[in-house]
Amino acid sequence: MTVREMQDEILKIKKEKDICILAHAYQRQDILDVADFVGDSFALSRMAAKAPQSTVLMCGVRFMAETVKILSPQKKVILSDSNAGCPMAEQMDKELISQLKEMYPDYKVVAYINTTSELKTVCDVCVTSSSAVKIVKKLDSDKILFIPDCNLGDFVQKQCPDKTFKLVSGGCPTHLRMTVKDVEKAKAQHPDALLLVHPECAPAVTALADYAGSTTGIMNYAKNSDAKEFIIGTENSIVEHLSFDEPGKKFYPLSKDCICHNMHLTNLATVYNCVCGTAGEVIELDEDVRLGAKRCIDEMLRLGD
Ligand code: 13P
Ligand code: SF4
Repeated sequence: MTVREMQDEILKIKKEKDICILAHAYQRQDILDVADFVGDSFALSRMAAKAPQSTVLMCGVRFMAETVKILSPQKKVILSDSNAGCPMAEQMDKELISQLKEMYPDYKVVAYINTTSELKTVCDVCVTSSSAVKIVKKLDSDKILFIPDCNLGDFVQKQCPDKTFKLVSGGCPTHLRMTVKDVEKAKAQHPDALLLVHPECAPAVTALADYAGSTTGIMNYAKNSDAKEFIIGTENSIVEHLSFDEPGKKFYPLSKDCICHNMHLTNLATVYNCVCGTAGEVIELDEDVRLGAKRCIDEMLRLGD
């Protein structure tokens, strides 16, 4: 089967079987082409509740599929590849958070959405990279315990100087591959290019950026900017998507190593097999866990809109 033939088959089968395909922006271009909706974590969470189809196929990582199930328990939710986890989501457990809560009883626990559903049950509110600053500013507490990404936490802290933060050291191994040396090298090679990074990067890298924001934030910035060249400090799929969307502009990866292997466990054939019913994992959540995690996601959607 050619790529085009496989895409046509996917479009036909998903219509017949009432399947909505949601794809995170880090997925490959040929997957984005067959998706009903593409976005960053926040936009995908919003779409999760709205999709009218009875089945949702999430092309992304586990916490994204769990978010869909949390918001739409009546739907069949499929994660495209059962091994597609987010390493950051596994970095902290409930016991650690309980200890931290004992140490800082008057702090609100703000959890990046890149966490397990279990962990969300002991937190106060979720945030995503595009909504974190807005939500923390609106939160009715000036004491914030931010988990698990201390880089995103640092990014939020700098924009909320009137609040007190406790950051716990965790983070994304993919984004931590990018260094100040990479920035110096890329800027020397492309002196006219603007540097756009994801706030999961180390603070020293983010400090050198012309813009820091979520995956779709980076894409929108590049599309709306009058500049013609950009160094992209996030997963390298975004370089590819921008090159497709903006053929008149030039995009360079900040590091050739910024590849999320978990996101790329899914390819077009995986999507085809999922809609045929021979691949993917149907997400099931314990009802107590689902309700506990839903409290944090609902609060995120309420404060983030
Ligand atoms: P976004 O919030 O930009 O979608 O980021 C999610 C993520 O996992 C980035 O590594
Ligand atoms: Fe998780 Fe990092 Fe991959 Fe995003 S890029 S899904 S934070 S490992």
